[in-house]
Amino acid sequence: MNIVIVGTQWGDEGKGKVIDILSEKVDYIVRYQGGSNAGHTVVAEGKEYIFHLIPSGILHKGKVCCIGNGVVIDPSMLIKEIKGLSSAGINISGRLKISPLAHVILPYHKILDELREGKRANKIGTTKRGIGPCYSDKINRCGIRMIDLLSPSVFKGKLKDNLKEKNEIFKKVYGHAGFVFSDIYKEYLNYGRFLRSYLFNVTYLLNKAIDDKKDILFEGAQGTFLDIDFGTYPFVTSSSATSGGACTGTGISPVKIDKIIGVAKAYSTRVGEGPFPTEFDDAFAQFMRNKGHEFGATTGRPRRCGWFDSVMVREAILLNGISQLAIMKMDILDGLKNIKMCTGYRYKGKIFRQLPYDAQVLSGARPVYQNMPGWSQNTSRVRRYKDLPVNAKSYLSRLEDSLKVRISMISVGSSRKDTIFI
Ligand code: IMO
Ligand code: MG
Repeated sequence: MNIVIVGTQWGDEGKGKVIDILSEKVDYIVRYQGGSNAGHTVVAEGKEYIFHLIPSGILHKGKVCCIGNGVVIDPSMLIKEIKGLSSAGINISGRLKISPLAHVILPYHKILDELREGKRANKIGTTKRGIGPCYSDKINRCGIRMIDLLSPSVFKGKLKDNLKEKNEIFKKVYGHAGFVFSDIYKEYLNYGRFLRSYLFNVTYLLNKAIDDKKDILFEGAQGTFLDIDFGTYPFVTSSSATSGGACTGTGISPVKIDKIIGVAKAYSTRVGEGPFPTEFDDAFAQFMRNKGHEFGATTGRPRRCGWFDSVMVREAILLNGISQLAIMKMDILDGLKNIKMCTGYRYKGKIFRQLPYDAQVLSGARPVYQNMPGWSQNTSRVRRYKDLPVNAKSYLSRLEDSLKVRISMISVGSSRKDTIFI
C-alpha cells in the first residue's frame, strides 16, 4: 500500500508523529517537497528528535528513507542531521537515499530570502532557509542539483554563471557585497564528496519497490494552506505541499498511490504572516501556546493559535483526496469550558461555506462558529475511543459530520503510546 501523509492546515499538524507510527508498517519512507523549513518532531523512547530533511521514519530499524527530486536540500543541514543520527547511535548505513535531481540550497539563496523579507512591505515571515529563492532558480532553469556537486567542471560552470548575475543584483538592489566563487565552490564540492554515497536513483528504486509489492509512505511537509497554488497566497511556501506533490516530487505515477491520510490539529496554528480567520485574541493565544508548547520546531518562533476551521480542513480533504484523518493534540483542549469550531465565514453581510479564493475576503472574514461544551477530564491517558469524555467524543463526531471524513487516529500526547486508534 502506498500512502501519502499531508498536513491539512498551515503545517505543524503533527505529521512527524503520524509518520513515525505508520513507518513501522511500511518499507520505504519518502520526503517529496519542501526543505529544511520543515520541522518534524518525534518522541521515541522518551527522547525527542526534530527532523528537517531526513524522513522521520529513519528511527525505525531497517526502513529505507528517501529524499525525492522535489525536495530542496541544504547540504550543510543534511550533513548535520546525518551526523546527529550517528552520534545518537542510529545506524543509517544503506538506509538513506537521495535523488541526484534534488536542487541544492546555496548561501546566496539563504541571504536573498532574508534580504527580500527585509524589503517587503507585506512580509511573509519565511523561515529564512532559502526555500523560495532555491525553488525560483529551479523554475528559472539556473538551479544547481545534487548531481552537479559530483562534477567539479559542471558545478564550476553553473556556479560561475549564477554568481555573475546574482552578485550584480546583490550589489545593485540590496547593497550586499555578493559572494566569492572559490569559497562556495570549495565548500560545496566537499559536501558533494560527503554525500556522494547517498545519491541514488530514487525514482527507479521506488518504482521497483512498488513492482515488488513493497509499501511506501510519502511524508508531506508543510500543509495544504502553505501550498504554492492552493494556499493563502502569497503567504505560502514555494512547493506543492498537497498530495499531488508526492508524484512530481518522486517520479511515482498518480495511479500507484492508494491512500491519502490527512493530519489536523484539534485546533489551528500558523507560524509566519497571512490570514487566519479563527485566530484567538492575544491573551487566549498566549494561554493555548503555553498549554500546547506552540513554538516553531525550526525557528523557535511563537505559533499563532486559533479554533479548528472546518471550512479550511474540508477544502484540504477535497484538494488532497483524503479518506482518513488523524486528529492531533486533542489533550490540549482538556479543561476548556467552551470549544468553538468554525463552520463558515461572514464577509460584508454574505455567508461563505466554502473557502473564498479572494485573499482579501479571507483576511476580512469573520468566522461563524458552532459552540460546544468542553470537558474537564484529562484525556492524555485514554487509549480507547469509548473511554474519552462524552463531550470530547461529541466534538470529534461534529468534526466528522462537518468534514465528511472518517477520523482514524486521535493523538493525546507526544509519544507513540499516547494514541487512540479507531
Ligand atoms: P512543517 O513540515 C509551519 C511557513 C513559514 C512561512 C511560510 C513560508 O514543520 O509543518 P518558507 O521558509 O517555506 O518560504 O516560509 O511557510 N512554513 C511552515 N510553517 N510548518 C512548516 O513545516 C513550515 N514550512 C514553512 O513560517 O509562513
Ligand atoms: Mg513543523
